[in-house]
Amino acid sequence: MANTNTYKGIYAMHKYWGKKPFNEISKFIEQYSLPDDTVLDCFCGSGVTLIEAVKAGRKAVGVDLNPIAVKLANVSMTAVKIEKINAAFKSIKKKLQKKIYSLYEMEYEGEPTRVTHTIWKNGEPVEVWYCTDRDKKKIRIGNDTDIKMCNEPAIAPKWYPESILYENSRINVGKEQKVSDLFTPRALVGLSLLYDEIKRIEDKKLRAVFELTFSGTLSQASNLVFVIRGRKKKEGDPPKAEVGSWVIGYWVPEEHFEINVWNCFENRFKRILKGEQEIYDLFADKTDDYMKEHLKLINGSATNIPIDNNSVDYVFIDPPHANRILYMEQSLMWNAWLELDGNINWEDEIIVTEAKGRKEKDTDNYNELLGEAFAEVSRVLKPGKYFSLAFNCLDDDTWIDTLNLFVAHGFEIRDIVPLEYSATSVIQDNRKNALKTDFVLTFQNTGNKKLSRIVFKYDDIELEEDIADILSNNPDYEVYNVMNALFEKTIPHGYIYKVSKIVKRCAELIK
Ligand SMILES: C[S@@+](CC[C@H](N)C(=O)[O-])C[C@H]1O[C@@H](n2cnc3c(N)ncnc32)[C@H](O)[C@@H]1O
Repeated sequence: MANTNTYKGIYAMHKYWGKKPFNEISKFIEQYSLPDDTVLDCFCGSGVTLIEAVKAGRKAVGVDLNPIAVKLANVSMTAVKIEKINAAFKSIKKKLQKKIYSLYEMEYEGEPTRVTHTIWKNGEPVEVWYCTDRDKKKIRIGNDTDIKMCNEPAIAPKWYPESILYENSRINVGKEQKVSDLFTPRALVGLSLLYDEIKRIEDKKLRAVFELTFSGTLSQASNLVFVIRGRKKKEGDPPKAEVGSWVIGYWVPEEHFEINVWNCFENRFKRILKGEQEIYDLFADKTDDYMKEHLKLINGSATNIPIDNNSVDYVFIDPPHANRILYMEQSLMWNAWLELDGNINWEDEIIVTEAKGRKEKDTDNYNELLGEAFAEVSRVLKPGKYFSLAFNCLDDDTWIDTLNLFVAHGFEIRDIVPLEYSATSVIQDNRKNALKTDFVLTFQNTGNKKLSRIVFKYDDIELEEDIADILSNNPDYEVYNVMNALFEKTIPHGYIYKVSKIVKRCAELIK
């Protein structure tokens, strides 16, 4: 779920999975680096670390394999005059609004109407929302004209992507499914007209703003928008329908919305404009030379970072969590439309996926590549400096493997704290005995490659005594505080208790 405390302004311009709360990231940057220091995030995603680093007067280096992520990060740090953006929008509107609207206009009961939303169920327009000169929203049942206008639009499409998605049942992609299959023929016309117009914008920075507006429009203009069925107003009424949004995967629900493409674009533009205003306020006074010196963005792999040894003062990273989110497979809709998918380096993606046709991406490959990325971090980070890793896992083996991976590279653990998603977020759910948060593990680059491996200690009685001891001295402690205290106590002696056991025992004791 989007958190409204941190999902706003720049950070709400465009969807990206796994965005970290900017206010929390900035605390780490302040704590572990100084002004003018170089901060690296080699899994930069939407660029939260980079934005916060430059805001704090640091130099930022960002790396990500996913082209749309790099584009998003870049636009998020490039000031463009708001008047210029507004003028370009006005010009697109003048050229295309009427044309795109015409794809949705028809007479109904002797009155001119424009369809804003159609609910399709198994190919039938079961509910149509439309407006007239007098009414903003009216609802009717769909008819043959709706089917014809959607499937045989009166305007021919311009170019649209026919890239094939990787077949993967986990994200609902079938065999030979194309990006274009995610849209109705009518939506393809509207979108292709928009993209064609955006490509004509000569000013590169301005064009990038609209490319992002466009890709941010795609999901809401697709068939991935499910229908939320609310309560019936009274018995016999159909349950009220509300518009859902794209969450994850390419699932086209049996019952889905088709939303008027122009309206989707205009709504996204309003959001982009808010972000752009913030970007302008933050970066407009920085010269191009300043930005060149303070922001380096690389569309490449964390396993091979093109920067010098010992050149970074602080690293904050949030790598993909094994098979949780398939970043590049899911971004193909965006990358394909923006023609960024020609040269994607799928091989180096650090991910676990069963997608057919991709090089084997299993846990071994994931660990191997992540190990290579950590080796790169150890190469570029100056001795004595700090490295923070956002980590979300309750699996005991993954904890100890991760800790030991760093130990092997001469990193010593210094701090473990939860990454709060908002002032009110619950970091622990005792009922399910699960931690609902990312942890941030901070290590120091000691350069000591002879640190001994950390092992598990299997002494349940001692663990219980230690936890009871910690809690009796600190009755307000939450699970992560107890974990931290235990790690502080045990890691210098070369062992940890199983995280699952710590959490279970804490759940029994902390009510
Ligand atoms: C958890 S996300 C990062 C999200 C980011 N912290 C944010 O706030 O937007 C992980 C990122 O790692 C990227 N990634 C995966 N394999 C990579 C690799 N080999 N090199 C660089 N980036 C990679 C993915 O594309 C994804 O953007």
